[in-house]
Amino acid sequence: MKFHTTLVFLAPTSWICYLPSSDGTKAVTPRNHIVVLNRDMSTVSSDVRNLEAQCHRRDMTPGIHFLNNRNVVVYCAPDGTLRATLNRCRHEGGGFRPTHTCVLTCPHHGWQLNLSTMEYINPIGALKQAELDIDYSDTEKVSFFSTITPLPWDVSPMVKQKLQDAELMVRYFAHACCEIRFAGRSLFTDPWLTGPAFSRGWWLDPLPPRGWLDRLSDADWIYISHNHSDHLNEHTLRLLASRRPDIPVFVPDFDNDSCITLAQQYGMTNIYRVPFSTWVSLDTDARLMILPDGTGRDDSGVLFEYKGHTILNAVDCSDINGGIVLQDYEHQMTRWTYRDSGQQCGCAV
Ligand code: FES
Repeated sequence: MKFHTTLVFLAPTSWICYLPSSDGTKAVTPRNHIVVLNRDMSTVSSDVRNLEAQCHRRDMTPGIHFLNNRNVVVYCAPDGTLRATLNRCRHEGGGFRPTHTCVLTCPHHGWQLNLSTMEYINPIGALKQAELDIDYSDTEKVSFFSTITPLPWDVSPMVKQKLQDAELMVRYFAHACCEIRFAGRSLFTDPWLTGPAFSRGWWLDPLPPRGWLDRLSDADWIYISHNHSDHLNEHTLRLLASRRPDIPVFVPDFDNDSCITLAQQYGMTNIYRVPFSTWVSLDTDARLMILPDGTGRDDSGVLFEYKGHTILNAVDCSDINGGIVLQDYEHQMTRWTYRDSGQQCGCAV
């Protein structure tokens, strides 16, 4: 397990520690190019796929079937039509239990999936569950495959370079706000640094270091993960906008415009909606990629890279990028406590 020490801690009481990439990641299983033959004998393109489960055709009677140690769940309709998915709830990855002919319920928080449509019925909102491809080419067996999409960070990889002391630094400010400094440039994340959040329900604890507004006003970029007021904070942004309304602000490309609308309403004028899983160059040596929360909530995290050195900030995501993340990132920031003002960015080694 790699654990590099290129980050410099400047103030002993307010810095984040980092975890090596040991948890929350999903090992990518061996890949195969497989042509899937559908029930109607049409074929699906030969994308890269994982074989998730197989079963005998004769075992597929109408109802719900769990396969491969309950990792896969298959629904067989009365007319024999099959639909299949991984047994993994989109909320936080819980395993389902059957509660009705075609309905699964996750015991963790009660989300419910209708297998006949592959849509969640709780919560309401037509949230879709990813389906497995089903291959009928074998006369005896049916095979269930997941598709592996290309990993975005495999595109144009950066060559790792040796860093000078203090060339790359991360400073913890408060709550989920950090400053990543590199080569004299500065990226801030989720600046909630003054006033309350959630009406007057949450307050900062600990407070940010003195001079935070000067530092924030000198930022080259700001990343905002989602529209909750402890991340997209009116009091902080209004104060910042009174000094530097033009700092580029990166927000995720959610279906709704609330991040952009709110940031503009609070006075920021230079806001970029960034597509998920796409590198955004900050300069020749630095870039960032916004990653979605796999639960389907409007939430995100960010992967930052400087000279081949990577930092993953999962922010509030409980299932960042559906659990598929860079396997060898060097440092991770994530929530670690619910005390005081709520979820705070940071973690213990
Ligand atoms: S409802 Fe499934 S993990 Fe929360």
